[in-house]
Amino acid sequence: MKISYYGHSFFKIKGKDHTILIDPFITGNPSASCSVDDFAPDAVLVTHGHGDHLGDAIPISKKTGSLIIAPYELAMYCQNQGANVHPMHIGGTFDFEFGRVKLTIAHHGSMTPDGKYAGNPCGFLLTIDNKTIYHAGDTGLFYDMKLIGEINKINIAMLPIGGNFTMDRFDAVRAVKFLNPGYVIPMHFDTFDLIKTDVQAFVKDINRETDSEPLYIEFNTSIDI
Ligand code: NI
Ligand code: MN
Repeated sequence: MKISYYGHSFFKIKGKDHTILIDPFITGNPSASCSVDDFAPDAVLVTHGHGDHLGDAIPISKKTGSLIIAPYELAMYCQNQGANVHPMHIGGTFDFEFGRVKLTIAHHGSMTPDGKYAGNPCGFLLTIDNKTIYHAGDTGLFYDMKLIGEINKINIAMLPIGGNFTMDRFDAVRAVKFLNPGYVIPMHFDTFDLIKTDVQAFVKDINRETDSEPLYIEFNTSIDI
């Protein structure tokens, strides 16, 4: 599969037959050099209602018919705006045509850009083409990551490292020890001044302190894995 990173928490995962977006923050994302018209995914996974995660999910869904998968309250908000949705909630799993999605807890808030209640935020376990990807969403470190790592064989973990609103790079190293993924991709850093961090130091710490392999994907580039 090909994983493209557009900065912040926005990824495109292109599998054999399907394309999935996670947290498509395009408009207003200083890191992303792409436009809404570049995407026609099968599904858009949205971790929470904050503008830097809900992003352009609704316009993409309305334009292409792609399915927004989100926690129930946020999914209903998107549906009311004319999007095609599949609501889920924390702990729930569903087998879609493209693969399996499970919602995990995330310790954070959730509110839409226009101030509407958006339920609880979440993380995602996405299994596609026999690979399991854990996208933590926006969250602080939590000990249940150990359980997530025990129950699931995680091939790739996407973790926030920017601090202030989420885990910083030091807590993210601890998260990697709990999750024990094959690869770890840092996210949610350097988009704004408040979340600036030293990603190269994170990469070094992962190499030195964990059994996982760091995969630093530069903004607007892709890796094949
Ligand atoms: Ni947030
Ligand atoms: Mn955020």
